[in-house]
Amino acid sequence: MRLCFASNNAHKLDEIRPLLPAGTELLSLADIGCHEELPETQDTLAGNARQKAQYVWDHYGVACFADDTGLEVTALNGEPGVYSARYAGPQRSATDNVAKLLRELQPHPNRSAQFRTVVALIEPTGEVQEFAGVVDGIITDTASGVGGFGYDPVFQPVEGDGRTFAEMTTEEKNKTSHRARAVAGLVAFLNKSA
Ligand code: IMP
Repeated sequence: MRLCFASNNAHKLDEIRPLLPAGTELLSLADIGCHEELPETQDTLAGNARQKAQYVWDHYGVACFADDTGLEVTALNGEPGVYSARYAGPQRSATDNVAKLLRELQPHPNRSAQFRTVVALIEPTGEVQEFAGVVDGIITDTASGVGGFGYDPVFQPVEGDGRTFAEMTTEEKNKTSHRARAVAGLVAFLNKSA
């Protein structure tokens, strides 16, 4: 089965590829000739995931799925949430986002947070399916590790050995991550409908 993942994030593609059923050909946006930025103007993760997947379906006619992820920090009332990518401004810089997060959290003893991913799949019939995944963790005081991307250097999953996601291999991150959990729902659905 040929399935497009509506993202330009190479890290996400690397995480997702090993999770898909054997025989699935995962296509990136570049593979289908899509080089424009996808619209992402909704105010929920599910809305953005649907919007991105729907855009690819409408303009390229390819079966595809998209994800949208937010970091929800308890002491910040769930922020940055759906605005995680632009937390420190429109430049979407991971370094700036992490610096702002550590600054905002500095006075708060409660460091708990969760990553939440919603995956939206457009089936070849045009129907939409949604799958969610969550991982609980804490935000560390300083950044550690060079792997992963985004907020990974300051996110330590609760079900772990004290390392941040950025200190893990992709395989290790995939054992507990929000995205791997959402993709597990997608894979179960694909296997059921195969
Ligand atoms: P999006 O899902 O690509 O829109 O991501 C929203 C924001 O969360 C961006 O700043 C990403 O870098 C960040 N992000 C998404 N997934 C992850 C992850 O697995 N680890 C760390 N940061 C992430």
